[in-house]
Amino acid sequence: DLKGFIFDLDGVITGTAKYHGQAWHQLADELGVTWTEELANGLKGVSRMDSLEMILKAGGKENDYTPEEKVAYATKKNDNYLSLIKNMTPNDVFPGIKEFLDDLIANGYQISLASASKNAPTILGHIGLSDYFTKIVDPATLSKGKPDPEIYTRGAEILGLDPSVCAGVEDAAAGVASINAANETSIGIGDKQELSAANVIFADTSALTLDNIKAQMDN
Ligand code: G6P
Ligand code: MG
Repeated sequence: DLKGFIFDLDGVITGTAKYHGQAWHQLADELGVTWTEELANGLKGVSRMDSLEMILKAGGKENDYTPEEKVAYATKKNDNYLSLIKNMTPNDVFPGIKEFLDDLIANGYQISLASASKNAPTILGHIGLSDYFTKIVDPATLSKGKPDPEIYTRGAEILGLDPSVCAGVEDAAAGVASINAANETSIGIGDKQELSAANVIFADTSALTLDNIKAQMDN
């Protein structure tokens, strides 16, 4: 039986995946790299510097810039991203998320956050969920990002739970791969095809309830 839930943030708790996409799209245009849906989906869940590398690689430009120039581009993307999220409020929490979190807590489940984003604590503040997430994996301390299992392994560790009793909630294929590799139950939010590796899947967060999860796990 499950005892803990480990959450991704962007695209699961709130709509920031869209803003990450917009900010990267703008930078890709500036770099002269063609923006495709495949590239956009591949970037979901991927750390800031790894994302930049993926964009440069997609355009065959991975050797065109110095490390300093790459940091400057990543900073530019982040500044743009920060301007897109600055007006977020508690109204931007995805449908059903607050109810799900309250239900988990009421039923004795533990929760932690496994977001690759260094902006996660800021966003939780904007959307009024800081009190729910006192246990957060610090992405700055990771040696490898998603799809490596490290972040979800750490998400279980900070709860003091074995991975086998933990579920991870993700909107990204890289995140689902990370959860599966950590030997946890994967709950995908989004497109069935894109997240076909997930153990449990919902088209969006409105149907994310303990009963609906159990119903799919019993199948
Ligand atoms: C999350 C998002 C990615 C983002 C990454 C790093 O995983 O899904 O799109 O690139 O965090 O975010 P940051 O806010 O640190 O640049
Ligand atoms: Mg995400």
